[in-house]
Order: sequence, then C-alpha cells, then structure tokens
Amino acid sequence: MSGNNDASSGPFGDLHPYRDEFKVYTQIPEHGVEPAEILAFLERTAAAEDSKWESGKVSGTIYHGGHEHYAFLNRAFALYAHANLLQRDMCPSGTKFEGEVIAMTAKMLHGDAVKEVNPKDEVCGAITSGGSESIFNAMLVYREWAQRERGIEHPEIVAPSTIHTAFQKSAHYLGLKLVRTPVTADFVADVDAMAAAITPNTIALAGSAGNYAYGTIDPIARLSDLALARNLGLHVDGCLGGFLLPWVERLGYDVPIFDFRQPGVTSISCDTHKYGYALKGTSVILLRNEHLRHFQYFTAPDWAGGLYASPTFQGSRSGGLAAATWAAMVAMGEDGYLAAARAIMNTADRIRAGIASIPEIRIAGKTTFLIGMMSDEVDIFHVNDYLIGRGWRMNGLQLPPGIHFCITLPQTQPGVAERFVEDLRTAVAYARDPQQEYPQSGAVYGLSATLDGQAMLSDIMLAYLDATYGVE
Ligand SMILES: Cc1ncc(COP(=O)(O)O)c(C=O)c1O
Repeated sequence: MSGNNDASSGPFGDLHPYRDEFKVYTQIPEHGVEPAEILAFLERTAAAEDSKWESGKVSGTIYHGGHEHYAFLNRAFALYAHANLLQRDMCPSGTKFEGEVIAMTAKMLHGDAVKEVNPKDEVCGAITSGGSESIFNAMLVYREWAQRERGIEHPEIVAPSTIHTAFQKSAHYLGLKLVRTPVTADFVADVDAMAAAITPNTIALAGSAGNYAYGTIDPIARLSDLALARNLGLHVDGCLGGFLLPWVERLGYDVPIFDFRQPGVTSISCDTHKYGYALKGTSVILLRNEHLRHFQYFTAPDWAGGLYASPTFQGSRSGGLAAATWAAMVAMGEDGYLAAARAIMNTADRIRAGIASIPEIRIAGKTTFLIGMMSDEVDIFHVNDYLIGRGWRMNGLQLPPGIHFCITLPQTQPGVAERFVEDLRTAVAYARDPQQEYPQSGAVYGLSATLDGQAMLSDIMLAYLDATYGVE
C-alpha cells in the first residue's frame, strides 16, 4: 500500500483514486502477483467506472453499452489478441476479417456508385486504430498525391472550422497547411468561403458528416461539385456519423447524401469503434480507388530486417481487434443497425421536443443524433454546472460557448430523455440565479478567446498530459 489522501486534490482532480486500494507499482514486482488478485482489482474498478455511463447520463463515449454484446466481442478478441496482422501467413483469418470489414463498410457507404462515374474505380480502404489515424492516412494520401503527381511542395487542405482537430494534428505531423474557414449561422461549411480559400497549393477539401461539436452535416453535394470543378480531393469525415447516418437515412429521416454517391468524394473515414459498435481501437479509411490507396502504403525493400510493407501508420497490429470488429458488424446485421438507429433517433427526437419547450436554450443548427445547445440568455456553463451536479456529463464547446449531448444506446433506456429535459429545465432556472459568479465547468474556456490565453491553455494542457502519466 502506498500513497496518501493529501495527493487527491491536485489541479486536475484526483487522477489516482485507487492508490489506497491497490499497491502502486513503480517497478516490476519482485514476485509475480496472483492473476486472481489482479483480476479482482480490475473487475472492481471496471464495474465502478462502467456505473458512470450505465445510467445513460454520459454524452457519447460509450456507443453500445450492452454488457452481453461486449462479452461476445471480448471472446472474439481473446481468440486473436496475441496474433499480429502483419504476419498474414500466420493468421490468414486476419485477411478475411479486414477485407470483409472494409467491403461491408464500403457497401454501406454506397461504394458501388463510384463505378457509375468511372468503371475503373473501386472503393478500397484500410483498418486503422481510430478516427484520428484514418484522417491521418487520408491526409497522407493527399500530401503524397500532391507532391508526386502535381509537384506541389507545400500542400494545403481547406476545411470548415468545425472540422475535427485530428485534421490539425495530422497537418502538424505531416507538414501540411490546414486552412480553416468560418461556418454559416447553421453551423455547416460555408462553401463560398471554402472556394475563396483555395490556392494553387490546395490539394483537397474536407467536410464532416456530422462534425464533433454540433453533429451537423456539411453540404457535401456542393463540396463535391467544388472538388470536381477545381480538380481537388474531397475527404468526408464520417468518423462519428458514418456508421449511423446510413441507417438514419433508411429510416426516412432527411439526411443529405454525403457518401460515395457524391462523385467528388475521394475518401471517407468511418469509425467502427463508435456507432459500428465494435471494441475501442478500430476505424475504417475508405478511398475511391487503389491508385489513391497506394499513396498511403509504406514499403521498405532495403531494410536489414527483410522486406517490410505496411498499409497504415501502425506496425504490428492486433488480430483481436480485427476479429472483434468483424464479429460486431456481422452480429449487428442490417436489422441490428437499423434498430439501434431507430432507438437513438427516437430518443434524440424526444430530447429535441423537450428542449423546444425551454426558450432559453437554442439548438445549434439542424441536428440528428447529436444535439448542440447554446443560450443567449443564461451562461450555458452555469447550466452545465447544474447538470454535472445531477450526474450528467455533457461535452463542452467553445467559440461560441455551448454544450452537446451525443445520443448513444445507453440514452435509449426508458426515462433517460425525460429526466434530461427535466434537469435541463431546472438547470436553466439555476443559471438565472447561480450560486457562483463564474461557472466551474466553463472556467478555462474564457481563455481561448485571446492568443495569450491560448498559450496559457496550452501550458495547462501540457501539465495535464504530464499528470496523466504520473503514478500517484
Ligand atoms: C467527427 C469526428 N472526427 C474524428 C474523430 C476522432 O476520432 P478518434 O477519437 O477515434 O481518433 C472524432 C472523435 O470523436 C469525431 O467525432
């Protein structure tokens, strides 16, 4: 046993709540600990942490939430967890899992439509470790395409300000310039602003279906026209909505076409580990043809370790995740995905209807499964403070201030939508006369308005990341 209670109140809250329950290891124990003891600890902490979202009060994060579903996926995972997909002679099943996951995802996103535009095209792709890596790979494709075929040495990507920060991160890693343009009052890409931002160095455009902050779907049809007219690539970030919106469309909701039915769409990222209901750690990047995919591959014919070829950023990758992702998609089936989409949209519709009766809360843009909320009358972070006190965990937004509720299957449990609306109504009343002058949940967001403030925030975030690697 080590640690003490005084350490619990750091600037970032208590990052080590288990320090007094289980030994803190700062070196490998001299004698191995009994698996039963380790598992007893893990089972206790996992159960405690699962209880935070099981009630349905947590936005996003947990997309399925069924323990039986997870137990099934974990069995599939366990059978291949130790296998390395780089060594296909050892596990040809990995070729089946990955190939079929990509084929099923491509079909869901109307990959067949590319042949109508060019019979030689065939949607293909790769499995990555998550949305960020799928976006990274797409950005790599565009950078290489620009350099190798167009002689563009300083490629630029134009995207709306709502594009996920994984694009900023990829641009940072890959030496690309990401040009972010303002969005309209409806929180979707302003296509004219994007067109005006195109320069001779522009190689691709990007839009979301839907974006992380508001869930709104960019006008991909117009971006497709623009991409074709200017001979640019077009990436659609479907990391969040890609596995849900196709089913929402089938249910008859008005979902603008964002997939390969748009002739200018050259790549789509789509996360199996979100609404694909697979385990955490996989996503799919789809490309319009193999020619584009080749820009993503890495080969080393001259390495002392032998011939090396890898399709994505990862080197060794777990056969377990591929098996579990494949198992999730096959087990869900179209009927399972449709039923999940119906339940999610039904819950989102009831929450939207409830919010309509709270005049102080404004919904950001035209929403589907994710509801962005703002207020011109009360401080939305006071509202959030109250919701936090009632056990809700929304996601905070900034520039402008807001919160969002991303509806997943745990929220579809009976009563969750109604409880949320009730608590939101009381939260607004609280925000009219809050106990504290400054809301706790929005304390840091004010800083992001100025460059000095942003520098200060970056320092705080560095300190936070360091703190997350501490042991006690
Ligand atoms: C729209 C969108 N794009 C990309 C990502 C990044 O995905 P990941 O966190 O899996 O890397 C997210 C994550 O929430 C997202 O919502």
